[in-house]
Amino acid sequence: MKTISIVFTVLLSMFFLDKINQRTGLHNYANQAIPSYINRDNTPANNQLNDTIATLGRVLFYDKNLSANNTISCANCHQQAVAFGDSATLSQGVSQGLTERHAMRLVNVRFGEATTFFWNERATSLETQTTQPIRDHIEMGFSGKDGAPTFEALINKLENIAYYEPLLCAAFGDNQLSETRIQLALAQFIRSIQSFDSKYDKGRAQVNNDEVPFPNFTALENEGKRLFMMPKDKNGANCQPCHRAPIFDIDPGTSNNGIIGVANDPTAFDLMNNRSPTLRDLVHPDGTLNGPLMHDGSLTSLAAVIDHYNKVPLHPINSARLNSRLRTANRQKGQNLQLTPTEKDALIAFLSTLTGTAIYTDERWATPFDRQGELVFQKLLK
Ligand code: HEC
Ligand code: HEC
Repeated sequence: MKTISIVFTVLLSMFFLDKINQRTGLHNYANQAIPSYINRDNTPANNQLNDTIATLGRVLFYDKNLSANNTISCANCHQQAVAFGDSATLSQGVSQGLTERHAMRLVNVRFGEATTFFWNERATSLETQTTQPIRDHIEMGFSGKDGAPTFEALINKLENIAYYEPLLCAAFGDNQLSETRIQLALAQFIRSIQSFDSKYDKGRAQVNNDEVPFPNFTALENEGKRLFMMPKDKNGANCQPCHRAPIFDIDPGTSNNGIIGVANDPTAFDLMNNRSPTLRDLVHPDGTLNGPLMHDGSLTSLAAVIDHYNKVPLHPINSARLNSRLRTANRQKGQNLQLTPTEKDALIAFLSTLTGTAIYTDERWATPFDRQGELVFQKLLK
């Protein structure tokens, strides 16, 4: 009897999910077009993208019930309008406390070689990363510390929210909720956030490699691309070995880039940040920066980024950790590229071509909750 009713619930939820698809037409997560030149994918075999699981992930990502006091969802700090990052240097968590580092943009997280996450790579998979903010005392507050509720309390809370039952049944075949399922679903939703509709992509699709000039680029953009790609001994700025076009993912083997500060604490150092989000979508289509850059949010313009790499400081405390690619040949000093003002402008122009448009507005990555806090497909789920 129980089996029959589970089968029935599954069929029913599949029917409802199908209706959601018909209604919004925007729920293709698993079969999005990926350009042929994109050749890295960190999706594990046991969490291949699936539209129903990613849909559950979308609801979890935007659900404020995932915080201890119902005020914060993942999307508070990872905002669609800011390329799933935050315009604030540090983000506010449940108890008005601030995060230690700047919130990372979540764009093309799937398309990278690295399988470790956070600026300092402390999460060993995207799946295990996703529930760390929920368990964090400051971020979402299910820490079990100092009287805060435990993760078990979150599971109980969500199990009593009506819309999770049909979503879970559609995604996993039964209504059981667990930390593992939350991780699978959130990781799928994050991996689904892809941005390949930039000016760069339109040019890249027309050529065989990144070295040749792109037909759709201005002379300045092509010069910026050349500087980005080329090593220092060929009069380049040598960004490519660490931020690898055409994906612009970080080289998993790099050490730090000379940004060693701690936001809000000028006396402290933080040397272990070896990961960067993709360099895509640094800038919003309207030209504003998608939040300050680097783990400490210390650089507030692309010009400041280029100035940093033009003359990289080598602080004594960082003597072992500054990556050798950013040093002089004898390793004694930080690199001094001596870029001209035009070369700096060219690099900025090139980085600005890496911005897409869809991720900022596409409904599949937008909140599924309406102004009243009701799930937009709530009526279909009843
Ligand atoms: C209070 C703000 C805040 C909330 C809420 C929050 N995050 Fe984050 N997120 C951050 C910050 C800050 C970082 C960088 C932290 C670090 O590296 O120490 C980050 C990093 C990440 C990363 C790493 C990205 C990468 O490329 O390595 C992922 C993935 C992520 N968050 C997903 C989530 C998910 C999923 C949720 C909801 C369950 C969430 N975040 C909730 C602030 C937040
Ligand atoms: C040795 C490797 C290395 C090289 C070379 C390098 N970077 Fe980086 N880059 C990093 C690392 C690591 C970070 C993250 C640093 C942090 O926040 O602590 C980063 C961060 C960035 C960011 C900020 C990303 C964000 O989301 O906040 C930008 C922009 C950037 N780099 C651009 C460039 C450009 C342009 C060049 C060439 C002029 C370059 N990088 C050369 C390693 C490198």
